[in-house]
Amino acid sequence: MSFFKLQNLPQPFFVLAPMDDVTDTVFRRVIADCAAPDLYFTEFVNVDGLQSPGRPKLLKKLRFTEVEQPLIAQIWGKNPENFQTTADEIASGSLARELGLPEGVNFAGIDLNMGCPEKNVVKNGTCSALINDPELAVAMIQATQAGAAGRLPVSVKTRLGFNEVTWDWPTTLLQQKLNMLTIHGRTRAQMSKVPADWAAIGQVRALRDSLSPDTLIVGNGDVMSRAQGEALAKEHGLDGVMVGRGIFQDPYLFAEDTPWLNLERAERISLYRSHVELFAATWRNNERPIHTLNKFCKIYINHFDGAKELRELLMNATSADELLAIMQAA
Ligand SMILES: Cc1cc2nc3c(=O)[nH]c(=O)nc-3n(C[C@H](O)[C@H](O)[C@H](O)COP(=O)(O)O)c2cc1C
Repeated sequence: MSFFKLQNLPQPFFVLAPMDDVTDTVFRRVIADCAAPDLYFTEFVNVDGLQSPGRPKLLKKLRFTEVEQPLIAQIWGKNPENFQTTADEIASGSLARELGLPEGVNFAGIDLNMGCPEKNVVKNGTCSALINDPELAVAMIQATQAGAAGRLPVSVKTRLGFNEVTWDWPTTLLQQKLNMLTIHGRTRAQMSKVPADWAAIGQVRALRDSLSPDTLIVGNGDVMSRAQGEALAKEHGLDGVMVGRGIFQDPYLFAEDTPWLNLERAERISLYRSHVELFAATWRNNERPIHTLNKFCKIYINHFDGAKELRELLMNATSADELLAIMQAA
């Protein structure tokens, strides 16, 4: 199996952010078709659930195809042993085989989520709560590195701090010699309520220069265009830029020259049709409920006369067939 090298990515490289219930294999393929990022992430997947009888339900979050490459599997959880077992399954390729992928096709890396601010995960001492529990965070990283055993890069995605910005936290992380560190430029307390602090992300990059020069630093937060991302990477000396919600404003955001604003009504409808067709072919037996498509409807069915009325019709549909019939008639 060839070892994917993050170092071979362009500078700066662009990453489609992990977004739970959004960046599944279907949406990633739609974006790949519009304008591919340099790197993809899966939605976050709980390792304690994966290593339990609940495994089949969680595996669907890891589904992917050869189109979405390179793809990092993002994991979270509580028990370092389960991080190690899962990392071994990912790095050996056995998990990809379990997902039905052919020999030689695998994830490109393993990322640990240490940034999710949700109440439930924090109450459970996981994700962003690990900022307050560096000992456990280090145990999880070391377990993952042991499981990956040099076969795949190991990275962390986190925030600037829990209640306030802290340099101890990125220092601890950088001492683990991660292959990549993504910093969302807000604290947990800030949730998504204030603008991302890119100057602070730049300070983490400066820390990296002295503590762990081989760790790639990716900045994240509020990037709405490729040009803006390139400017921020240049200003703060970053290796990569991760884009989450910006993709809702422009599915072609990763293009050098996005055509999105000039796309005709028919092209926008056709994009949603492709999404629905892929969804229907991928998620069967209500694996993902049909209403989860509504957030995508808002992306494509927009910026043309009559878009609002068409959206209303589409959002009330109860099956993929019905959605396709409405678009056919539109
Ligand atoms: C709907 C949604 C789901 C998210 N799910 C995840 C996730 O599974 N893992 C993760 O690390 N971050 C997750 N995030 C955070 C994003 O990856 C990103 O850090 C955040 O949205 C800030 O970047 P942005 O301003 O470019 O959107 C999620 C964000 C949103 C909006």
